[in-house]
Amino acid sequence: MRISVFGLGYVGAVSLACLARDAHHVVGVDVDPHKLDLIRSGRSPIVEEGIQDLMKQVVESGRVTVTNDVAKAIADTELSFVCVGTPSSPNGGQDLAAIKRVMEQIGGALAKKSSHHTVVLRSTVQPGTLESLVRPTLEQASGKKSDADFAVCFQPEFLREGTSIKDYDNPPLTIVGARGPAAADRVKQVFQHLPCELVNTSIGVAELMKYACNAFHAVKITFANEIGRVAQSAGVDAREVMDFVCRDKRLNISPAYLKPGFAFGGSCLPKDLRALNYLAKVNDLTLPMLGSVLGSNRAHIDHALDKVMVPGVKRVGMLGLSFKAGTDDLRESPLVSVAERLIGKGYQLRIFDSEVNLSRLIGANKRFIEESIPHIGNLMVENNEAAIADAQVAIVSVATPAVLTALANHDNPDLAVVDLVGLPRDRIKCARYSGICW
Ligand SMILES: NC(=O)c1ccc[n+]([C@@H]2O[C@H](COP(=O)([O-])OP(=O)(O)OC[C@H]3O[C@@H](n4cnc5c(N)ncnc54)[C@H](O)[C@@H]3O)[C@@H](O)[C@H]2O)c1
Repeated sequence: MRISVFGLGYVGAVSLACLARDAHHVVGVDVDPHKLDLIRSGRSPIVEEGIQDLMKQVVESGRVTVTNDVAKAIADTELSFVCVGTPSSPNGGQDLAAIKRVMEQIGGALAKKSSHHTVVLRSTVQPGTLESLVRPTLEQASGKKSDADFAVCFQPEFLREGTSIKDYDNPPLTIVGARGPAAADRVKQVFQHLPCELVNTSIGVAELMKYACNAFHAVKITFANEIGRVAQSAGVDAREVMDFVCRDKRLNISPAYLKPGFAFGGSCLPKDLRALNYLAKVNDLTLPMLGSVLGSNRAHIDHALDKVMVPGVKRVGMLGLSFKAGTDDLRESPLVSVAERLIGKGYQLRIFDSEVNLSRLIGANKRFIEESIPHIGNLMVENNEAAIADAQVAIVSVATPAVLTALANHDNPDLAVVDLVGLPRDRIKCARYSGICW
């Protein structure tokens, strides 16, 4: 393929060299004449393992040219990767000046081009950037319509400095966010030889996915370091602790607990987080991240309540009360907090949880309801149907067949559903639906 690469920094220079190595004809474009001169003379503008030799080899092959002439680069190629920088603005937002400028230039060049062209944004950008800035800038500058006259899509880049050629050849997956399959298919042609899954998705998902990955990496490093400080203060080997943490591939290094949903609770997580933070306090440590986890969890409960406490609502039904499906344990259940907040604000509440059926409850949980939350025990009804019959809002935290049947067959025309669990939308009847994170 004939490909142009805009921005010859870490991402662009590695992409240019690897694309040319893989037999594509590549035109590199940058505003920095020094970088263009270096590549012209067979040298790399960045320091990376293996890049000097590779750059020399691909420039000598004749498959690489560089220019600051955008019109020529667009005219001579069929697909462009845009890898210009998106640094932080002083307020923490993203500085999109380089993206805007390069899209104006590419759009101007597209105006003079009669054949189809595909523009692939690889710079990391906030969700919505492609639709609010990139597409309109290209359309305005070219006077053409995207999808019809040219295509534009987003492909997050996963390479890391220091191992970038290896990462280019072994990405965890290749994701293309596009409005239709045509643009994505063209990008896939370039990367189909890679040993990884190729996935099509929406542009917004592809844009945010890259931010989610980088935030996750930062959170993991900070987590290991905060545990490390606690371990050191307690005279325990931090590296051994984290090694064992990582050996649990079922609950720790796994998709477990990584699905957006409702707040955590129960008899262990809040209690043990409090104890860990207390241990840090008595050892004169600060743990800014672990110290804010319970606060973040409370913010999530507030987020659910904001969806329920809308003007006009007085009667609420709760399907589910324990901290997770399949248990009758109510200790520190975030749903008990939801119920208590609603009762405190004067809402009329009816609650059903098949696992917390008062007549069947035994032992500690019966005592907990009777002694600690008798005000909630009094609001429990005998089945799901009774909880939602007269409600204006149903807060649903379990998706058992009985709950789904009740939500499909009720005859309450005003019922709004606040879904905390990911219900199958097509199987529930409601006047208004609101998901906790979707
Ligand atoms: N560095 C990484 O490891 C990495 C990994 C994945 C994603 N990213 C993302 O990729 C993007 C690029 O990162 P980078 O580290 O390669 O940036 P960089 O700062 O090293 O390079 C950007 C290049 O773009 C050039 N440029 C600016 N305006 C231009 C224009 N109008 N036309 C042509 N070239 C222009 C600059 O001169 C510079 O050479 C960023 O959005 C970054 O977040 C970076």
